[in-house]
Amino acid sequence: MKKVTINTLRKMKQAGERITMLTAYDATFARLFDSAGIEVLLVGDSLGMVIQGHGTTLPVTMDQMVYHCANVARTAETAHLVGDMPFGSYQASPEEAVKNAVRLVAEGHMEAVKLEGGAEYAEVISRIVRAGVPVMGHIGLTPQSVHKLGGYVLQGRTEQKAQKLLSDAKAVEEAGCYSLVLEMMPAELSAEISRSVSMPVIGIGAGAGCDGQVLVCYDLLGMNPDFSPRFVKKYLELGVAIRDAALRFKDEVKHGEFPAAEHSFTAEAPKPVQLYSVPGK
Ligand code: KIV
Repeated sequence: MKKVTINTLRKMKQAGERITMLTAYDATFARLFDSAGIEVLLVGDSLGMVIQGHGTTLPVTMDQMVYHCANVARTAETAHLVGDMPFGSYQASPEEAVKNAVRLVAEGHMEAVKLEGGAEYAEVISRIVRAGVPVMGHIGLTPQSVHKLGGYVLQGRTEQKAQKLLSDAKAVEEAGCYSLVLEMMPAELSAEISRSVSMPVIGIGAGAGCDGQVLVCYDLLGMNPDFSPRFVKKYLELGVAIRDAALRFKDEVKHGEFPAAEHSFTAEAPKPVQLYSVPGK
């Protein structure tokens, strides 16, 4: 498969071909999603919640993002790679924003960065783009503003708020964004925004009228049996399956069934073995 670039994504929108994006935080998942032909891998700051166990994305640091980005980039071959700018990494000044965006590309090997916010971030977006780094925008429910928004609630429900989101989408495109995430808003609004801009628009909790869809991979895989929000479709119940595997392992070890003879070595083990699974090897 050919490498997916920002031009590929633009052409997909023009051709009416839907774009798929999934989050990935490590080399194993990145390789699996890449080999499935998912066009965009997002190293989302959602890792603060699904990997680190925080209640918000706010504690995630630049160093942590760089670490996870580099792990994903190590095994992804064709997908377009986007790294999230964490909270505090682009709000203070355009200079700091450029410095941090450059880190995600230079040290994290990302091909673009994503940041949350509308017209008020136009200057930051254009400065990062001018430095040669493509920027994916993100409006609607912007999780880094959870305290300002009063919780993880549906956005753009009044005419005035819907108009503000529409003008934010146009402002970030004007500032240089090559694509945009719309999170948690009424389906009619996201469809109107998608029609009103020429950059590809990728939705989450934003209905079917966007140019593409993104999900947090742990949600798609059903890693948390207790989390089933309306906007998520669980394609697997992996959380249940993983717990079940751990229970079976425990049971077999306790009963002396694992390791069996076929999992044990004799003194004449023929050749070196590879320890642990390395994706792609
Ligand atoms: O951090 C993240 O995973 C995201 C997606 C939900 C779009 O921003």
